[in-house]
Amino acid sequence: MPDIGFVNGRFLPLEEATVSVEDRGFQFGDGVYEVIRTYHGRPFHLDAHLARLERSAKAIELPLPWNIQQWTAHVHEGIKRGGYAESKVYLQLTRGAAPRDHSFPASTKPTAVMTVREMRPMDPALQASGVTVMTMDDWRWGRCDIKSVNLLPNVMARQKAKTEGANEALFVRGGRVTEGSSSNVFGVIKGRICTTPTGPGILPGVTRVLVLRIAKSSGLSVSETELPLRRLISADEVFLSGTTVEVLPVVRIDGRRIGNGKPGRITRSIAESFRLMAGG
Ligand code: PDD
Repeated sequence: MPDIGFVNGRFLPLEEATVSVEDRGFQFGDGVYEVIRTYHGRPFHLDAHLARLERSAKAIELPLPWNIQQWTAHVHEGIKRGGYAESKVYLQLTRGAAPRDHSFPASTKPTAVMTVREMRPMDPALQASGVTVMTMDDWRWGRCDIKSVNLLPNVMARQKAKTEGANEALFVRGGRVTEGSSSNVFGVIKGRICTTPTGPGILPGVTRVLVLRIAKSSGLSVSETELPLRRLISADEVFLSGTTVEVLPVVRIDGRRIGNGKPGRITRSIAESFRLMAGG
């Protein structure tokens, strides 16, 4: 089964899907994106991802080539054509191809691409053992709430984490933890679920919202306030959330043990509720 590509409304085998070298996404990182996965073959919270795509595009003054219903139809069609048990859908929208000039081209014709690949479930051993993370300076721009394709700091941070044997990099700005390189972060502090508030400093994760919903409906108290690193390191439990990591326990930050060094009870219960909501 070939991986599926899609360029400006046309499906084609991934290796035949190409865009111009003058595409502004390629030359300036002038674009936005989404990553969506399926559970039981259905795209998970597609509406929330498309609403965020719309918001990101609006924030960079990029017109959407299709309305939400049309995007939805394209995503469903891509998943159908891929034919995988579970799919990972990548959507990217850029300002299109034009001779290189920092200011926008006079008539903008955006480039919309999509790829559909097989989504393999995360290694259950990682869920069971929890992961280690390392902290890094958050030198990203001031609009991390826009899901921009400019991911250089995220890429550098994740690569450093990888070479140092950690699973994720946590960004720290002014002594406060913002989020991971591709995940949001939570601490369980005296039974309360704490996470960085939404705003320009973090991506408002689709999974983050679901975690907060699960926590509230389980009767847990929730606090969306700044998370000083020293507070997170001394938390009883820490976990990540995201489309690819789902709800993933963190057992070490910068080599320092969190709690008893094992995934905590509350984290496991939230992860279990998430699994039931998503796939169960
Ligand atoms: N990233 N924060 C950042 C910086 C992210 O890149 C992501 C997701 C998240 C979690 O958001 P969500 O729950 O909506 O997936 C938080 C995707 C998966 C990626 O870039 O691959």
